[in-house]
Amino acid sequence: MIKTENLKKIYNHDFEAVKQMNLNVGKGDIYGFLGPNGAGKTTTIRMLTGLIEPTEGRVILNGLDVRSEKQEVKKHIGVLPESNGYYEWMTGKEYLLFFSSLYGITKKKRAERTDELLEMVDLQEKANIRIHQYSRGMRQRLGIARTLIHEPRIIFLDEPTLGLDPQGQKDIEKILLHLNKEKGVTIFITSHLLKDIERICIA
Ligand SMILES: Nc1ncnc2c1ncn2[C@@H]1O[C@H](COP(=O)(O)OP(=O)(O)OP(=O)(O)O)[C@@H](O)[C@H]1O
Ligand SMILES: [Mg+2]
Repeated sequence: MIKTENLKKIYNHDFEAVKQMNLNVGKGDIYGFLGPNGAGKTTTIRMLTGLIEPTEGRVILNGLDVRSEKQEVKKHIGVLPESNGYYEWMTGKEYLLFFSSLYGITKKKRAERTDELLEMVDLQEKANIRIHQYSRGMRQRLGIARTLIHEPRIIFLDEPTLGLDPQGQKDIEKILLHLNKEKGVTIFITSHLLKDIERICIA
């Protein structure tokens, strides 16, 4: 599902952030990408999802070349960036409805899909509260729901459990395991904590 060939990123002509990376992530895998601050996790996710161009090498997602087939690739992937922007004045439900319209989901289906996602990430009771009142854990769960709107086959999550307490981490793990085991979604997740990755990937 995710394949890289000699992927490399050099910033400012002289700083090698990612060296010759060859990854192979299978369908239905949960792949934990571990490394300390500055190791190149975010740089890698940005290259894998086509947000930045690699200096060398290439990325193939679900058989598609990310550089030459960017628009098609977008239909198959969902991405939760390291610092995801939220429209604070919207309620959780409005936020998901808004992104559903961006993805071209028909008006009739938007409400149904939004309710389904809110339930999956356990936010149905907070659906009509504005995001500025959401805790960090609630925001991360809403962010994960947003990545799933168009039913992607692969999702990329950049440190989704960062700053969460043990319960918040467990909530995210539960959602990810459900997605993987029940829906067959391939998951690429980064963290700087071995324990986080271990629990999710070995479950
Ligand atoms: N746009 C950029 N221009 C120049 N250097 C950059 C840029 N983005 C990242 N870097 C450098 O590349 C290296 C890898 O950064 P990156 O953000 O990918 O690491 P990370 O593993 O995600 O770190 P963290 O755990 O802190 O999020 C760092 O040394 C960083 O300073
Ligand atoms: Mg990072």
